[in-house]
Order: sequence, then structure tokens, then C-alpha cells
Amino acid sequence: MRGRFVVMEGPDGSGKSTQTGLLEEYLKENKKEYIITREPGGTRIGEAIRGIILNPEYREMSDVTEMLLYAASRAQLMKDVIIPALEEGKVVISDRFVDSSMVYQGIARGLGAQVVSAVNAPGIGDHRPDRVFFIDIPEEEGLRRKKEQKKLDRLEQESIDFHQLVSRGYREVLARRPEVLKIDGMLPVEEIQRIIRREMDLLLK
Ligand code: TYD
Repeated sequence: MRGRFVVMEGPDGSGKSTQTGLLEEYLKENKKEYIITREPGGTRIGEAIRGIILNPEYREMSDVTEMLLYAASRAQLMKDVIIPALEEGKVVISDRFVDSSMVYQGIARGLGAQVVSAVNAPGIGDHRPDRVFFIDIPEEEGLRRKKEQKKLDRLEQESIDFHQLVSRGYREVLARRPEVLKIDGMLPVEEIQRIIRREMDLLLK
């Protein structure tokens, strides 16, 4: 038995968490066996790592340290949560996955795709998402939404140039991959959710 692995991707403020919450309601209503998880975090160790990575006090963190911490959190999540759930035939919804590292660390930090792939390979093995929902929004809009929300974490405090690299990076990394569905994040919340649910029906039937 093998479950289905679904990933939500997009820049900060794109609405991934809102959409993930709505999708959870749908899966629950339809009595699907599912788990929802997030990156960085999702395990005891991963949540501790999240506390380090996103803490704005650690301004001295090197880009390489940052990349390794995301990969470490992910490796633990794969072993403890994602692989067991897929083996039990469950639907796994992850708010972010390795494409986030490809974009933020590989492109925006400039560490490169090869390095990021190599560092993440031992943790991920040959597990790949069956479907990636990429919610695309203009960078200014993402930042505007985030600023309204709450105190910004270490990555969200980065410059507008950084977020521009992230937005462009997403379009580059996720382009022309058959499992990726790009959705216009400026659409109304309910419309985005309708698109996601329609795709989920196809995937789970
Ligand atoms: P996220 O949990 O989406 O933020 P929030 O809970 O505030 O919506 O992600 C936290 C930050 O981590 C976000 O700025 C993106 C960044 N990130 C990376 O840089 N690389 C990664 O591999 C992942 C998973 C996230």
C-alpha cells in the first residue's frame, strides 16, 4: 500500500497555511486517512530546529548552517512522519518541502541546486511528491500580507531583494514539472481551494 504525497509551496504570505487548513477540512469530511505536517518542524527535533532557524536573534547564522538545519529537520520528518504515513497508505499534506530549500537556499542564498540536492538526498531518498500546489503571488503582495499578520521571523525580515529572488526562484524551479500545479494566489481564497479540491479528487480517486 502506498499513500499520496502532496506539497504546498509558495513564497511567504502566499496563503499556503490557509489553503492547507481548508484542505484538511475537506479530507476530514471525506473520511480520508491523512496527516498534515509543516516544514521546518513537524517532529520534536524538527520543531526545536525550527526555533533556531527562524529566531531573529541569530543574525550571524551562515547560509550553509541554514541550509543544513532545514535539511536536518526534513530528514527527521521523513523518517518519523512522512515515510511511515505513506507506507500506511495515508494522504500526506506538507506545508513546504525540498523545493523551498531549492528556492530559498539554492537560489535566493545562492548556494546552488547541486549542493542543496546533495545535502537533502540522504534524508529524502527517492520519495517525491505526487502533487505540488504552487501558489504564486507578486512579491510585494506576499510581504504586505505578512507584515499585517505578526512579528516577522528571521527569513521574513530579509530585504525586498531577497523576496524578489524567492518569487522568481519559485517560478524557475517549479516550471515545467508535470506534478506541479501553479495557482494564481491573487484569486479569492475559495476559488483557490476549489482548484485544489478538484485536483485532490483526481489524485485520490
Ligand atoms: P513557514 O513555516 O512557511 O513560515 P510561516 O509559518 O511564518 O508561514 O516557513 C518559514 C520560513 O522558512 C519561510 O520564510 C521559508 C523558509 N524556508 C527555507 O528557507 N527553506 C526551507 O527549506 C523551508 C522548508 C523553509
